[in-house]
Amino acid sequence: MSQARKIVILPGDGIGPEIIAEGRRVLETVNQQYDLGLSLQTCLFGGAAYDASGSPLPEDTLSACREADAILLGAIGGPQYDTAPRDLRPERGLLGLRSELKLFSNLRPALLYPELADASSLKPELVAGLDLMIVRELTGGIYFGKPRGIEERNGERVGFNTLVYSESEIRRIAVSAFEIARQRGSRLCSVDKMNVLEVSELWREVVIEVGKDYPDVELTHMFVDNAAMQLVRAPKQFDVIVTSNMFGDILSDAAAMLTGSIGMLPSASLDEAGKGMYEPIHGSAPDIAGQGVANPLATILSVSMMLRYTLKETAAADAIDSAVAQVLAQGYRCKDIASGEANEQLINTTQMGDAIIAALQAGADS
Ligand code: IPM
Ligand code: MG
Repeated sequence: MSQARKIVILPGDGIGPEIIAEGRRVLETVNQQYDLGLSLQTCLFGGAAYDASGSPLPEDTLSACREADAILLGAIGGPQYDTAPRDLRPERGLLGLRSELKLFSNLRPALLYPELADASSLKPELVAGLDLMIVRELTGGIYFGKPRGIEERNGERVGFNTLVYSESEIRRIAVSAFEIARQRGSRLCSVDKMNVLEVSELWREVVIEVGKDYPDVELTHMFVDNAAMQLVRAPKQFDVIVTSNMFGDILSDAAAMLTGSIGMLPSASLDEAGKGMYEPIHGSAPDIAGQGVANPLATILSVSMMLRYTLKETAAADAIDSAVAQVLAQGYRCKDIASGEANEQLINTTQMGDAIIAALQAGADS
């Protein structure tokens, strides 16, 4: 057998360890079932790493991540870190990892499972069949632009950040989005704020240039305020949305909620070679941490994305996706996706993991 492929697991903070435990069990199950030859290693990251070593992204975690074929992350952060030095907060660890590993392309699908149409805050007919993908630029823009800081000017404090994108940064995220659109519905909507921002003017120009290489993909443009409105008015008009780091951060939370719960959505952050970090798009939910009620499905679906996008193990990824669909069809729900329907069975985090593994095993036996 070829050398084992390495997966680094970063449980993180809050509900991170609970949901990762289930994601890991699912990964171990398919590893065995499909003889994937994956070796799993767990490392400290985020607040947990800060508590243990004084840094949210310790050197040995970073080097393990560099050597890994793929990374599975739970969630990071919590109110106890709000007073830590800004550079040592868990979020900085996450931004550091994205940036160090050059994970510039962030895929955030919003897919509505038919069984969860009632859990959406929108009318079922507006969201039934929803299947859109947000491609968010992840290593540039206002999140990383310099100068940044808080300083005193003319006797008062001033906070500032810089929104900057180079042509090459825009080009590579546009290529990534066009490629994805081509594999889906061949419609790409680029979201910007071209009516106000010079950065967006360049963004739009470069996206149009890249579009010339993709005549088969229909390209449209939308201002971000309108896109936010359209997402909650008529979300099914979208196939793939490509946008900058901060706009993507905001729009992807809105898109997530359309599907009933942010607890259902996975994400992938990819570099140019397709290596990736996979994580649920929800946060560390400190309010429910330790209670065993968090929904592990976003993490389990992140495992599936990892198998599909980085490891190219389509059969194993398909098996996880159908196990999730099957378990939902059977009526199993964690608290966040329960809507009080008659056939529902409310279960906890571990029981959801058990249900998915049982469905995987039943699938393998049939
Ligand atoms: C996300 C999160 C992060 C972000 C935070 C935790 C730094 O909101 O992944 O969407 O803003 O990118
Ligand atoms: Mg966010």
